[in-house]
Amino acid sequence: MISAEKIPNNVGLSSNKRLQRALEHWQPQYIQWWKDMGPQGFQDYHQVYVRTAISVDPSGWAHFEYVKLPEYRWGIFLADPVHDRRIGFGDFFGQPVWQEVPGEFRNQLRRLIVTQGDTEPASVEQQRWLGQRCPSMYDLRNLFQVNVEEGRHLWAMVYLLHSYFGRDGRDEAEELLARQSGNRDKPRILDAFNEPIENWLDFFMFTMFTDRDGKSQLLSLSESSLDPLSRTTRFMLTEEAHHMFVGETGIARIVERTCQLLKESGFSEDVRKVGGIDIPTIQKFINLWFSLSLDLHGNEISTNAASYFGNGLKGRAQEEKFDDHHIGEAYYELDVPEGQGLERKQIPMRSAMNEVLRDWYVGDCEAGVVRWNKVFERHGMSERLRLPDRKFNRGIGMFRALHFDPNGAPVSEEEWERRRYEWLPSAADRDYLLSIMSRPVYEAGKFANYIAPPLRGVNRMPINFEYVRTEA
Ligand SMILES: [Fe+2]
Ligand SMILES: [Fe+2]
Repeated sequence: MISAEKIPNNVGLSSNKRLQRALEHWQPQYIQWWKDMGPQGFQDYHQVYVRTAISVDPSGWAHFEYVKLPEYRWGIFLADPVHDRRIGFGDFFGQPVWQEVPGEFRNQLRRLIVTQGDTEPASVEQQRWLGQRCPSMYDLRNLFQVNVEEGRHLWAMVYLLHSYFGRDGRDEAEELLARQSGNRDKPRILDAFNEPIENWLDFFMFTMFTDRDGKSQLLSLSESSLDPLSRTTRFMLTEEAHHMFVGETGIARIVERTCQLLKESGFSEDVRKVGGIDIPTIQKFINLWFSLSLDLHGNEISTNAASYFGNGLKGRAQEEKFDDHHIGEAYYELDVPEGQGLERKQIPMRSAMNEVLRDWYVGDCEAGVVRWNKVFERHGMSERLRLPDRKFNRGIGMFRALHFDPNGAPVSEEEWERRRYEWLPSAADRDYLLSIMSRPVYEAGKFANYIAPPLRGVNRMPINFEYVRTEA
């Protein structure tokens, strides 16, 4: 039964018969999907200390309690409306925002919402085996927190589909549960969401880099002229921040532990001999997940991106920071492959919107890498991690058919084949990681040898708090 008590919301669900009817059909399918494709082995006998959003004010979205995962109260929240909000960019700049979907943009908006929505359940599917290899109970809880919130993000997009797109919207909502990450016949829409996440280095890199692409996309959608889309994504951003925290601090704690192990073994040992994760391996996983996440921003030159911007559907991250919100005449300078090399070209700015968003994204990632390198500095070590050049290992866009090393220097096909596992994780690297993660650490306050404890616990609880309880 659909009830406002079971589904916390601020969208007037109890008086919205149409939405209730749509959800009555969809919600049981969602729960079935969650049981089948959600965290494996933690559905029936575990209680997890998670936060549940029960309202949009700060006290309401940080409500903590123990719940059994399938009983999590997935809610529907829109950030508070902005009084007299006006369209902030594109051809309709300055006009009132839309409370309904304009017919002429219906297909484009539906596509944007479905593409965003598809990533949310995909990541839950990708991460579903990780609980079995967790480095600590604290990390296990964080994994499940991320998972239930990605589930809620799916609800957010389904709310929009059900409320604004009629029959097509209901069909799309079902398709969101039918596609499956990595499934050959019915894969998820975007490539990075079909990659397996089998170990915790993948997971932390995913939450650092791929969830940060989520932040890029949500920031640009929160500028949308479609006000319900803007308000939904604005609230999702509060949750996204936690996902990136999990990734960034997860890697920082691995780096911390690697430094400790290196020091203990007198810097002479291969850190793998003492069960740690060596710096070159960490760098390879950065190279992989950063490049996959760059691809998620789309083609450098894109007529879709131009039309999303012109029509006021998808803006730039933090649009208010720009001076010109119309940009009919502006240009973006881009290095375009030409003959044997690259040539700087002027691209109409609107067509380069994906690249503009990618610029914002790269800057945000760089700030995180700087914070990781502080760990080496504190240990007095000269090693540094870094982002690869953005042409490296690209599967989408104009560098797709070419090869570059992590410094951005072109390499031949032959050299790429010969050297790719110097730069990207090899099967042996993955085997090693699985070998040190094969036994999960479920004891409160204990941590796997390859990762340092966090600085503090969740919601001011101690680090050795029992974040996941097993029922007798
Ligand atoms: Fe999400
Ligand atoms: Fe996320």
